[in-house]
Formats: sequence, structure tokens, C-alpha cells
Amino acid sequence: MKIIGINTSPRENSNSKIALEKALDTAESKGADVKIFDLNNMNIKTCQACDYCVEHKGECSLDDDMQEIYNEIKDAYGIIIATPIYMGNVSSLAKIFIDRFYAVMNSLDTYNVHGKKFSVIASQAAVDPPMYEYIKHNLETTVDIFRGIGFDVEDVELLIGNAKEAIINTKEDQINKAIMIGNKIVR
Ligand SMILES: Cc1cc2nc3c(=O)[nH]c(=O)nc-3n(C[C@H](O)[C@H](O)[C@H](O)COP(=O)(O)O)c2cc1C
Repeated sequence: MKIIGINTSPRENSNSKIALEKALDTAESKGADVKIFDLNNMNIKTCQACDYCVEHKGECSLDDDMQEIYNEIKDAYGIIIATPIYMGNVSSLAKIFIDRFYAVMNSLDTYNVHGKKFSVIASQAAVDPPMYEYIKHNLETTVDIFRGIGFDVEDVELLIGNAKEAIINTKEDQINKAIMIGNKIVR
């Protein structure tokens, strides 16, 4: 059982990445093979809207590092995306990654999408409800596309109050949420 983690924070000591690693460590302790991709260190272009994937069973025409991830997706049991909240939504790296799922969407069988587990871990600075309720809504709307194409969405977790790098390490409740996500994705 393979679980892949996608880190879309550029920060060295990213809170969402720390949570992602905790979730992956938990999945590994349950017997999963885990792999993490740091998108900030990879060459992944935005979708060119060429529609090559529409005509070629989901194969993407772009020769970049996303090809490795496309291959991993095919036999992955689950995917966990970690993202900081930037200007009220997922990071631009996360959005580029999500747009590249156009190829996946155009050949669900090639990528064995049906029933594949999917979770999101997001981290933001704000703690006031008006500053996170609408962001939860934005995250759910973003994840709806994955539900719509057949992924089994487990968790969409928004961690709050994390302005400082690695502050999550002082928050037992948030670390426990990450552990729970790791436990659930291998069920
Ligand atoms: C460009 C930018 C935009 C941000 N926008 C928001 C925001 O809209 N709401 C918020 O609560 N925090 C915002 N933040 C703070 C980050 O979401 C917060 O520090 C988060 O925990 C970063 O996650 P990371 O540690 O995993 O990188 C922003 C930070 C940056 C750099």
C-alpha cells in the first residue's frame, strides 16, 4: 500500500509539511510505503491547456517532474496534500499541482482513480472564526473536484494559528490531528 505526500509549502520548517510528515510516519508505522514530493524543489509547469491528455488516455505532453508523480499516482493507495493558506486559499504550488489533475480527470482508468484515498492538510496564521470559516469553505470547494472524479476524500483539515515556522511542534492537538489523518488514510 503506497501513500504519497505532496508538500506545497516553500518554507524550510513548514507547519503543514511537519503535519504531513507526521501523517506519513503514522501510515508507515501501519505498513504503508510512503513517499514525499517537495513541489518547491521540482520543475512542475502549469497546465498548458493543450488537450493532448484528452486524446492520449490521460498522458500529459509536458516533459517535467510531474511525470514522476503521475506514475506514482497510478498505483498509490492514497494521496495527502499539504498546503499553506495564501491569500485565503491553497498555495500557488498546490493550485498548479491540482490543475495538472486535468490529465488524471481525462483518463480515470489510467490512473486507477476510483476509491483512491485523498486528504488535505492546510495551515494558516489566523485564529478568528471569520478568518477561517470561509477558508474551510474554499478548501471544501477545491476538494469537491476530487470527490467528483471518484477519489475517496477522507480528511480536509485546516490547522490555525501557525504564523511562525514549526510552531505546530508545540501544539499537541494539531500533531494528534496529523496522526489521525495518517491512521485514516491506510484504513
Ligand atoms: C503570501 C502569504 C499569504 C498568506 N495569506 C494568509 C491568509 O490569507 N490567511 C491566513 O490566516 N494566513 C495567511 N498567511 C500565513 C500562512 O498561511 C501561515 O504562516 C501558514 O501556517 C504557513 O504554512 P506553512 O508553515 O506550512 O508554510 C499567508 C502567508 C503568506 C506568505
